[in-house]
Parts: sequence; structure tokens; C-alpha cells
Amino acid sequence: MTSRIIGTGHCVPDTVITNDALSKVVDTSDEWIRSRTGIGCRRVVKEETTSYMAYMAAKKALISANIEAEDIDFIIVATSTPDTIFPNTATCVQKLLNNKKAVCFDLNAACSGFVYALNVAHSHIVAGLAKKVLVIGSESMSKVIDWKDRGTCVLFGDGAGATVVVEDNSGFLHTVVGSDGSKGDAIICDGHSSNSFYGHKEKEHPFTQMNGQDVFTFAVKKVPEIITQVLQEKNINAEDIHWYILHQANERIINSVAKRLKVPMEKFPMNLEHYGNTSAASIPILLDEMNQKGMLKKGQKIIISGFGAGLTWGATLLTW
Ligand code: ACO
Repeated sequence: MTSRIIGTGHCVPDTVITNDALSKVVDTSDEWIRSRTGIGCRRVVKEETTSYMAYMAAKKALISANIEAEDIDFIIVATSTPDTIFPNTATCVQKLLNNKKAVCFDLNAACSGFVYALNVAHSHIVAGLAKKVLVIGSESMSKVIDWKDRGTCVLFGDGAGATVVVEDNSGFLHTVVGSDGSKGDAIICDGHSSNSFYGHKEKEHPFTQMNGQDVFTFAVKKVPEIITQVLQEKNINAEDIHWYILHQANERIINSVAKRLKVPMEKFPMNLEHYGNTSAASIPILLDEMNQKGMLKKGQKIIISGFGAGLTWGATLLTW
């Protein structure tokens, strides 16, 4: 017995911020952003929240899976930008879905969050702890970005993607996940307020700070490595994979991974041009767009892979 994704959904905020619009706020240009990242615009929350987008994506995923909200027994939300520290986002989704029986928690593994969450859902199902699971990635990255810092504000966007995962005879095949806390400084968001016991002090750097080149170098090395490991451990050739669905951070990272794996770019779908880097939401948003377009066919072998702050990484092999 294993687990299978049987439904997908996504939700993005209404507000679109183009590169040209950003170039009026910081010293940048459409040409620079597109050529360095592949990003053309991003969605940014106004009234929407992380839990509301997660709920909307979940509702669509339940319809696509033909499953009632009340039958879900586990909700896991991958996010590093929850609306509140507590209650967690997953319980907010549960409330909005009017579900009474799910166990709910959030998981923070930054841009690897969805791959980690899928692995946790799979493990729960295989252990007999859950049968019908909502695995969601939802982020309001715009709230943890310094919109005066051109080095980071051009990269990120907001949104949510959701999947319904259930027990089945085929689907999830294998995964490799990992972390390296010693490299945590490469991308960090120190957003919490200081301890008022000692008096209120403004945080010096409350927003996301990143050494872009370190993250880039890590991603182009680690992602092909773990994908190769997953394939070798299941004795599957790279060319037998129909789709490589990677975290949507940067087109140049995806190009480099494809080149290292010697796999044509056509097998690496991308939507980062429209949404930027939506962290834990990027993979499930892309999965849903592909699903809606009919690109995902039963029996196809798929790799999904995420990488991000922590540092964290993960690659999962599954059959659609
Ligand atoms: N517009 C114009 N110029 C810019 C901008 C901008 N938005 N940002 C930086 N620059 C300038 C820099 O100041 C620098 O100028 P200088 O040469 O005069 O000093 C020049 O452009 C080159 O800067 P680099 O940082 O060297 O640019 P690079 O080619 O490395 O691209 C980028 C930067 C796009 C950030 C790249 O390093 C990258 O994509 N890294 C990976 C980042 C990533 O994926 N992060 C998400 C991780 S996932 C997670 O967990 C959240």
C-alpha cells in the first residue's frame, strides 16, 4: 500500500505586480529581472491571507478529487508565512471547511515545504494514521520581503496550491529529503518581535535576507544530486520520467538542473514567469495548472523537487 494524489487546486491573489511596476519602486528593470530569473510578474496579497488562499486551493482540490471536506482526517499546511503564530494555518483551513475530524498542523521547511509535507502525509497513510489528507502549500511572501531591497523583492510572490492524498496501491514511490542547518545564514527571515520582558526593540533586519549566489550554487548542485539518488535507488532512468516539477525559484536554476541531468527542458514545466517564487506553494500551483490542462496522465512517472531555506531539500518520485 502507498499513497496517491487524486486531486489538485490552487488560488492566487488578484493583484498582479509587473516588473515594470516594480521598476518604479526600486532601481531595477524588466530586462534585468527576466534575464536573471525568468520572472515577468508576481501576485501580491491585499485582502487575501495565507489561510484564506490555502482554504480556496483546498476547496478546489476536494472538488477535483470528488471528496467531501468532512471526510478529510489530516490537514497539513506547508508555510513559512502563517497569518498567526497560533492557531496554525491548517486549523484555520479546517474551520473554513467546517471539518471536525482532521488532525491539523503546519510545517515550515521554506521552499522545500511541499515536498516535506507530502512525505509526512505519505508516512501517515502508510502507518495507518490517516486515510484522506489535504497537503497544502500556502505563502504570503510579500509580507516578509523588504520592498526597498531590489535583491529580494523582485523574486517572490504569493499564492497557494493544494492536493488531496489518499491510500492506494500505486502513486508515491520513493523520496529523498534532507537539511543542512549549518548553511542557515544563506537565506534567513528574522521576523519575530523581540522579547518585551527586556523592553521593545526594533529588529534590525525583520525581512528576508539572502545570499543569492550561495543559494543558487547550492540549488544547482543539490537538486540534480538528489534526483539522481531517487532514480538510482528505484532503478529508473532519467529519460523514463515524464515530468520534472521543480520548485519555481529561477529559470536559470531549472535550466542548469536539466543540463546536469541531460534531460530536455520540455520535461521541466515552468510558471514562474507569472507568479515568481511562491516558496512552498510553487510546486502544488504548478501541479494544479498542469492537471487542469490535462498534461498529467495516469501512469506517468513524475519527479517533484524542492529546495530552500534551512537549507532544506527534497525529491519525490511518484506515478500519477
Ligand atoms: N535589479 C537590477 N540590478 C540588481 C537587482 C535588481 N533587482 N538585484 C541585484 N542587482 C545588481 C546587484 O546589485 C549587482 O550589482 P553590482 O554588480 O553593481 O554589484 C548585480 O545586479 C549582480 O548581482 P548578483 O547578485 O551577482 O546577481 P545574480 O546574477 O547572482 O542574480 C539572483 C541574483 C537572481 C538573486 C540569483 O543569485 C538567484 O536567483 N539566486 C537564487 C535565489 C533563490 O532561488 N532564492 C530562493 C531560495 S528558496 C527559499 O527558501 C525562499
